[in-house]
Amino acid sequence: MPRKPLIAANWKMYKTPVQAQEFTKNFLPLVANHERDEIVLCPSFTSLSVVIAAATGSGVAVGAQNMYSADEGAFTGETSPVMLKAIGVTHAILGHSERRQYFAETDETINKKLKAALQHGLAPIVCVGEVLAEREAGKTNEVLLRQTRGVLAGIEATQAAPIVIAYEPVWAIGTGRTATPQIASEAHGVIRGEVAKLLGGTVAESMRILYGGSVKPENASALMTEEEIDGALVGGASLDPQSFGKIVNY
Ligand code: PGA
Repeated sequence: MPRKPLIAANWKMYKTPVQAQEFTKNFLPLVANHERDEIVLCPSFTSLSVVIAAATGSGVAVGAQNMYSADEGAFTGETSPVMLKAIGVTHAILGHSERRQYFAETDETINKKLKAALQHGLAPIVCVGEVLAEREAGKTNEVLLRQTRGVLAGIEATQAAPIVIAYEPVWAIGTGRTATPQIASEAHGVIRGEVAKLLGGTVAESMRILYGGSVKPENASALMTEEEIDGALVGGASLDPQSFGKIVNY
């Protein structure tokens, strides 16, 4: 079965609820009846409810940018998968490089979150990717293998269907420096190969691997028409409805 591409907007720490609602109102008409790709908007926690309300019935899904692994408890400042699920969130970005870099997330903590997301029926969009120094030192594959193994540790093939992996080379995030379709494809092949080893060929063949890192209307088509690239995780260029609309409608 061909993999249905997924295109997700990662708004990071941008937009108030009013701005998020305004975006949604302007964006939805641009993707009305869009069937080729699954579309997911990931606002900050404070805007989840307004975006969910605005997107109801549109076919556009709403995801969180992070979550904690416990259902509830004394974890000041954290948000649980139970809470997300209760308001209609369907996806969660996990282990974004900014979470790894600024908030000390590791493959191990991300793996716990991934298991919790699956347990609660949230589709995890789990991020992997090398930093520039690792690429320049020829360590890209080693990093991708380690991260893929780490975040998927203990996952069974029968649980894996909702998992989406996002390959985001850290040197391409917010820098305007996009990986070429060839570079991205190669990395996706490495990740898919490891998923096949861990979870079997059938799971690997159906798992969606997104590319993220300076995806823009101008490069979306070249990236997304690559066989190995099953969609995109878009930061900066997803903040404007016209721009994100162009990416989705590449
Ligand atoms: P960018 O961010 O599109 O602004 O490079 C992508 C991401 O961090 O998910």
